[in-house]
Order: sequence, then C-alpha cells, then structure tokens
Amino acid sequence: MLTLPALKADPRVAFAGAFDLRDEARVRFAVEFGVPAFETLDALLRSPDIDAVYIATPHELHAEQVIAALRAGKHVLVEKPMATSLADCARMERASAEAGKVLVVGPSHGFDAPVQVAAELVASGKYGAVRMVTALNFTDFIFRPRRSEELDSDRGGGVVYSQAAHHIDVVRRLVGLPVTSVRAVAANWDSSRSSEGAYTALMTFAAGAVASLTYSGYAHYDSDELLGWISELGYDKDPARYGEARKNLAALSSQDEIEAKLRRTYGAPDASANDALARYHEHFGFILLSCERADLKLSPKGLSIYGDAEREFLPIAPPELPRKEVIDEFVGACLGTRRPIHDGRWGFDTIACCVALLESSRRRTDVAPNRLLDTLSEKL
Ligand SMILES: NC(=O)c1ccc[n+]([C@@H]2O[C@H](COP(=O)([O-])OP(=O)(O)OC[C@H]3O[C@@H](n4cnc5c(N)ncnc54)[C@H](O)[C@@H]3O)[C@@H](O)[C@H]2O)c1
Repeated sequence: MLTLPALKADPRVAFAGAFDLRDEARVRFAVEFGVPAFETLDALLRSPDIDAVYIATPHELHAEQVIAALRAGKHVLVEKPMATSLADCARMERASAEAGKVLVVGPSHGFDAPVQVAAELVASGKYGAVRMVTALNFTDFIFRPRRSEELDSDRGGGVVYSQAAHHIDVVRRLVGLPVTSVRAVAANWDSSRSSEGAYTALMTFAAGAVASLTYSGYAHYDSDELLGWISELGYDKDPARYGEARKNLAALSSQDEIEAKLRRTYGAPDASANDALARYHEHFGFILLSCERADLKLSPKGLSIYGDAEREFLPIAPPELPRKEVIDEFVGACLGTRRPIHDGRWGFDTIACCVALLESSRRRTDVAPNRLLDTLSEKL
C-alpha cells in the first residue's frame, strides 16, 4: 500500500500482472490495472510479459519467493527486511548471482533523498572523516494493528527486523564503512505486545566511526516533533492526534485486530493507497551526522550544516515522484546503467547487523556482524 503510489506514478514502471493469496486483492488489481491477476506465484513467474517483480509479502516469505522469481529469470525488488535469517540471505544472494538477475532490497529509509545527499557530501571528503552518527526514532509501531507473527520474535516480529532494518540502512549509508561491532539492548516492556518494542545500539565502524541508534515503538513520545511534525512518509502530521494508536487498539479484541490490519491491506473495501504526492521527503527520525569539520542534521526538507565558522541550510527540492530514489536504483540496475547500492549483499549485511543487535542484547556483549557471517560460511 505504501509503495503502490510510487509504482503507479513512475513512467518507467508498467504493471503486467500480480499475485496475492487473497481473492479480493487479485480481483481489485485486475480491475484497477486491467492486467492479469494470477492464481499462483508460479503462473505469474511463467509470464513472459513480466521482467521484474516487487515482493511485499510478510517477512518470512521473502526468501522462497525471491529465489523462485530469480530462478524464473525475473529481476526482484524485495521489501525490507531482506529475510529473517542469515542463511536465507545467503541463499537469496547466491540465487541472484547464479541467475545473473538484479536483487534490490527496499524501499528502506536508506534511499531517502536527504540520506543520499548527506552520504555523497561525506564521501566527497568536504567535511573530513565521519566520526559519529546520532540516530533516534520514537513511534507508535508496536500499537498499530498487527498479525500474530509481527509480534513473534521467533518469526522476525518486533521492531528489530521491521524498524532497525531501516535505521541500520540509514546509518550504514551515511558512514559508508563496514560495521565492526554492535553492542545493544533490545527490550520488551509490554507483555501484551510480546516482542522487542525498543532498542538502543552502539555500532562501531572501520576507521573508528561510531553510531548510536535508539528506537521506541511504544507510542508515548513521538520524535516527529523534532522534524517539525512531518510524518515518516513526508506528510504534515497533526500533533493533536496524540495517543490515537493506543486508544484505537484498546477497543479491539485480538480477532478485531487481525481484521483491522486486513482493512489496511490492498483489496480491502475501504483500503486506498495515498496517491497525494508528499510535500516533503520521507525520514526515519532524528539523524545528526558528526564529521571532523561539521555536523550535518538531516530533515525532510534538506540538511542543516554546522561548520567551524558558520551554519547553513542546504535545501533539497521536494519529491517529484513518490519513492523515486528506489525506482531510480532498481530500474537503473535492471537496465544495466547503474550499480545498485542496496543489492543482495547490502541487505545481507544489514540483516547481519540486526542479528548482531539481538544477539548482543541476549549475550550482553559486543557482537561482530562479520564474525556471524564467517560462522555461517563455515556451516554452509
Ligand atoms: N518499506 C516500507 O515502508 C514498508 C512499510 C510497511 C511494510 N513493509 C514491508 O512489507 C512487507 C509486507 O508488510 P505487511 O505484511 O505489513 O503488508 P500487508 O499485510 O499490507 O501485505 C502483505 C500481503 O501479502 C499477501 N500474502 C500473504 N501471504 C502470501 C503468499 N504466500 N503469497 C502471496 N501473497 C501473500 C497478503 O494477502 C497481503 O496482501 C513486510 O516485509 C514489511 O516489512 C515495508
């Protein structure tokens, strides 16, 4: 639902078919776009009219569906998180290499225009080496209507795979160096929503850069306040709607909650994607990047740069198309005109950081994502 406006609006994308388990989604798609809605994934993958597929199913289905699509000769854009185990990521990355087809993991907020502009400025060396990133985000993630697996840590539920995957992508893109270790605490503070709802993590990078990432999805403080009340998706937000997610959820039984989730899903009678172009860029909370000679604060409108002698604001033109940066990267990769940043290897490394975050919290020690990858290669 969130990426559909981007796919619809972008002239480089033409729909050629879709598959979903639910009849209502298939019927709606066939009517809305006048193209086939297939009865099975295999039937979709056999269609010669389809060059590329976008996979936006629940996390735990990504690996098998992505591998099937790559083996059928399709390029793949798969939603974050790439998968919920390192072994699955390894299989997906290998399938992409063997098929010679593109695998891009996204959209994540690592694609957001302000992140890209800041990353390019850092890479240019203009402000010297990157030293530290301060990243925090406080949302109502845990109190939105959820299916049971979204709150089951053993199935990739909770905020780490769903939200730290964004946070880590943003920070990795800004620093542009390999992550050497993660020390974190991930916590469950609400027994009625039993999976990790908050974390704080300290990530160290090659060359000594460090990032602190703090996230809470417990629907109290809302860090959009620090972004001028602009929502994650770049729309104006009304602060008077405080506490809405909790209040709405409190009125629902568990069956009502599943139905409420379904009502927001494509094909449900009242569900409609927001086709209004956002006025501002998407964001993932407060991000401050400290370099040797300046601090850069990211916002949905641009970058505030605090240099040695003066500060300036570098505006970034508002979005021309929703999630354009994602389509730019994916289409460029499919056409062979652009090397993707967020490819299978990238997604794999982000998931290694998510696994390291959870393991660090459990073992109360530093965990090196690379060491996890080495252990995996020894097993495979
Ligand atoms: N990038 C973003 O901004 C963003 C935002 C929300 C969700 N996501 C990601 O998108 C993915 C889906 O999220 P969600 O579950 O909340 O979305 P959702 O519930 O809106 O959609 C999931 C869809 O998958 C369909 N489905 C379920 N099993 C299927 C199967 N076996 N084959 C085909 N279709 C099947 C469902 O019927 C449903 O239409 C997740 O991985 C999530 O992390 C990304």
